[in-house]
Amino acid sequence: MTFRAQVLGAAAGGGLPQWNCGCQNCVLARSGKIPGQSQSSLAVSSNGVDWAILNASPDIRYQLARTVDLHPTGLRDLPLRSVLVTNGDIDHVAGLLTLREMQSFTLFATASIHKTIADNSIFNALNPAAVDRKTVALEKPFLLTTGLTATLFAVPGKVPLYLEGDAVQTDLLGEQTVGVAIETAGLRVFYIPGCARLDDDLRSRLEGSDLLFFDGTLWSDDELIRNGLGQKTGQRMGHMSMSGPDGSLQAFADLRVGKKIFVHMNNSNPVLRPNSAEKIEAERCGWVVGQDGMEISL
Ligand code: MLT
Ligand code: MN
Ligand code: ZN
Repeated sequence: MTFRAQVLGAAAGGGLPQWNCGCQNCVLARSGKIPGQSQSSLAVSSNGVDWAILNASPDIRYQLARTVDLHPTGLRDLPLRSVLVTNGDIDHVAGLLTLREMQSFTLFATASIHKTIADNSIFNALNPAAVDRKTVALEKPFLLTTGLTATLFAVPGKVPLYLEGDAVQTDLLGEQTVGVAIETAGLRVFYIPGCARLDDDLRSRLEGSDLLFFDGTLWSDDELIRNGLGQKTGQRMGHMSMSGPDGSLQAFADLRVGKKIFVHMNNSNPVLRPNSAEKIEAERCGWVVGQDGMEISL
């Protein structure tokens, strides 16, 4: 075995069900008719012993409790070596607060994302004596954990909601929203939970890769508006949708990727219903709809 990934949380911010939502999916999930999904996070390992977590969701306490490979192996010995965050969004950093208790691990992020975390003094709960905050430059490979070399790269996105000013650029290319490339034993794996657009640079980067976890936030760009759930389009939130001429199903149609898995699904997304026409359509296009607890070994 050279690579293992476990989907700790397949949903976008809010999760399924979301606490204040009465949409069809949330009602079905609350009544146990469709599986609930926790918030955006992925665990990866090359040896099953040393693990890294990509994004620390507010549900991390429950996700760690449920994932046997991440359980303590001694009084304070943990298989978790590092945490990497791909943006400063609440669904990706709030779980860091759960990881206090003087446990040592490395926290990887770009300088910009580290600044966002450092500017919020509540994160001082992660004692510097235990948690090593390492700044990673874009396009510079580094050791994520044993056997896994990672490289961060810019993907079109925006600043976190809580840092938005009056004018928001939703497809900014920089250090605020990144994708992760992981290389191990000749395999190339990508994790991109937020992406506003599949541009040519990203296309050529992903071509020929073995495994991809990709932004599956919405099925259609106007899904929240049409269902009376909000005012924002997917584009305004910095997420490309699955369907439509600019959607990911179309954009990836002629890309060669070994296995494509949607993650970071908003609770409104119809693909979260196991028998929906939209899920069947996504599968017909070669995608797997991610689920909490899903495990992939290469
Ligand atoms: C997003 O992915 O667009 C954000 O997580 C939204 C949010 O912070 O609620
Ligand atoms: Mn999110
Ligand atoms: Zn809902």
